[in-house]
Amino acid sequence: MDKSHKTLGEFIIDNQKHFKYSSGELSSLINSIRLAAKIVNHKVNKAGLIDILGASGDTNIQGEEQQKLDIYAHDVFMSALINREIVCGIASEEEDDFITVKGKHHNNDNKYVVLIDPLDGSSNIDVNVSVGTVFSIYRRITPLGMPVKIEDFLQKGSEQVAAGYIVYGTSTMLVYTTGYGVNGFTLNPALGTFYLSHPNMEFPKDGNIFSINEGNYSHFPQGVKDYIKYCQAEENDRPYSFRYIGSMVSDFHRNMIKGGIYIYPTSSKSPKGKLRLLYECNPIAFITEQAGGKATDGFNRILDIQPTELHQRVPFFCGSLNMVKKAESFMKKYP
Ligand code: AHG
Ligand code: MN
Ligand code: MN
Repeated sequence: MDKSHKTLGEFIIDNQKHFKYSSGELSSLINSIRLAAKIVNHKVNKAGLIDILGASGDTNIQGEEQQKLDIYAHDVFMSALINREIVCGIASEEEDDFITVKGKHHNNDNKYVVLIDPLDGSSNIDVNVSVGTVFSIYRRITPLGMPVKIEDFLQKGSEQVAAGYIVYGTSTMLVYTTGYGVNGFTLNPALGTFYLSHPNMEFPKDGNIFSINEGNYSHFPQGVKDYIKYCQAEENDRPYSFRYIGSMVSDFHRNMIKGGIYIYPTSSKSPKGKLRLLYECNPIAFITEQAGGKATDGFNRILDIQPTELHQRVPFFCGSLNMVKKAESFMKKYP
């Protein structure tokens, strides 16, 4: 017997009133993401059996090698989002520029833009370790009737109307927020139905897990090095446990449930950080704050950053409130 009988579809309808714009619109958008998530899940689940593992032979705009599943997931989410009269533009990690989506009569009357990392944690695809999808949704700011412009995508994270992620793990979950808390839904694969399994998800205020690629230690800023040493110190409830999957979505999901911090800082190898502001950090930061956690670039709130480029990178400190505050206190010593 499933823990909850409420399906994602029912939940969306029950909570439409929370959406300050026309209620059916967001429902339709989340529904298209729900559908795409099921299709990608189906593929990811049998990845070892079909010719979908490995590199595609192409690189994306960021010079990263694209995996076959990166492209598959990108295509699935694109077609699911395009086939509704809701979305006017989409930006994806796997596409250099944003794409414009026209309405039924080739008009430009659709109202929402979506930014997406179709498959997060690519390096884990071939080894049967959890991967994810991250999405961020805004209302367009340019007038209806006009094609979307770059400004519609370069909005601050604080303007998001919804955001979420899917984690394709030991079970597949869809977690999202529309600004009224965070709810998680687990897929029953036999029925193809998501059920509300994690209502009102909240970050523990404190935690004892830290997640950072310590292989880059010698390239980290001094504040980050000092914080790592603090986590390892033998005092009170320390040393903390170190856990790093290498799929930000999966690392984040674990930390939100158990209490922890995820850091992808600047380094001498990647001076701006690695993670992308618009379709990785902003949606995760929105969820973090809705769950009572904190998300910053080490100094400033992620959701307040004015984006200047579609594929902009940013350092990311995210997790349990008191752990992020502590990490920031080390960063402040080296402004
Ligand atoms: P993506 O697969 O979408 O390119 O993202 C990978 C990201 C993120 O998921 C992960 O936490 C991080 O890259 C891991 O990077 P390192 O291997 O440098 O630690
Ligand atoms: Mn990613
Ligand atoms: Mn990706």
